[in-house]
Amino acid sequence: MAKALITGITGQDGSYLADHLLQLGYEVHGIVRRSSSPNPWRIAHLEDRVTLWDGDMLDMASLLQVLDAVRPTEIYNLAAQSFVGRSWREPVYTAEVNGVGALRLFEAARVLVPQARIYQASTSEMYGNLPSDTITARGPFAPRSPYGNAKLFAHTSAVNMRESHGQFVACGILFNHESPRRGEEFVTRKVTRGAALAKLGRIRELPMGNLEARRDWGWAPDYVRAMHLLLQHDEPVDVMVATGRSHSVRELCEAAFSHVGLDYRDVVTKDPRFFRPAEVDALLGDPTDAERLLGWKPQVTFEEMVRRMVDADLADLQG
Ligand code: NAP
Ligand code: GDD
Repeated sequence: MAKALITGITGQDGSYLADHLLQLGYEVHGIVRRSSSPNPWRIAHLEDRVTLWDGDMLDMASLLQVLDAVRPTEIYNLAAQSFVGRSWREPVYTAEVNGVGALRLFEAARVLVPQARIYQASTSEMYGNLPSDTITARGPFAPRSPYGNAKLFAHTSAVNMRESHGQFVACGILFNHESPRRGEEFVTRKVTRGAALAKLGRIRELPMGNLEARRDWGWAPDYVRAMHLLLQHDEPVDVMVATGRSHSVRELCEAAFSHVGLDYRDVVTKDPRFFRPAEVDALLGDPTDAERLLGWKPQVTFEEMVRRMVDADLADLQG
């Protein structure tokens, strides 16, 4: 039986990936780091179906112990300090977890399970402000945040492991993807929850940052299918995963608030606290290779994604 180990299983993508792999008949294991009050709400429904192991991307010995005990055939490295905004306040920590942490895992796998196939969660943040018609899965890259820098280190380390040691390490360069399981600090969830709260009369104001930033937003459950497909490809490749359509944060606000019959201009305000020291103004990906090499296509549109997220937030707040 195929055996998967997921780092970051308590996160948005980790939880959907666990759902997906279980459905495909995998034995699923996940690494969970210690916290004083664990709150694994995204995987509570999987309690009896996955095996959880203590471990931390900052701690080599814990990674070695888990790999030795599990002996996975596939490893999905999703663990990260994933909030770009926070990375300016904690740049060294972000580099340790997202950058060196990934290298720790690759090295541990090289020693203990060199045949395991590894998925690395790379990101469109590695492109920074490069024009969309110039970017490819091989670069160029020009990250503008400590988060993007750390992820680029992990990405190029993955390529090195492949080229130097023949390890099967494949990188999915994923553009933004969202869901009701998204953390509330990210802009989509902040806006959909804000629209739901405003509809219920619980807030009058939603302070926001740059409304003109554009992102290529997709549906997270679609994107975890691509992660799995990437590891089934006959050779390790790096592939962009995106919808090929972009929208502004302003359009996101319009879509979410109009879904509950409100005008976002009555609620959304600008607040300097939510602007970034260096912005990535626009990200737009090219899903052609994902379709050509993996047979992957996104199934949920931006409009449908926003509706589903607002409805889920309303149900959650009313339940
Ligand atoms: P997320 O919801 O923030 O989940 C991050 C996961 O990493 C959580 O399970 C978290 O555990 C774990 N983690 C953090 N620090 C750790 C450490 N030191 N040791 C072990 N585990 C640690 O992120 P996501 O949206 O699912 O994203 C998954 C991955 O894809 C991340 O690497 C992210 O950078 C990358 N990515 C995401 C997107 C996107 O749009 N979502 C796009 C491109 C790339 P806790 O639950 O304990 O915090
Ligand atoms: N979070 C947030 N809060 N972002 C805001 C706000 C606000 O109040 N107002 C405007 N924005 C803008 C940000 O400046 C950014 O341009 C855009 O909304 C998206 O911000 P996030 O949702 O925080 O995501 P991100 O694009 O920075 O990063 C996400 O996507 C990357 C892939 O491109 C994360 O999931 C990363 O982990 C991922 O790699």
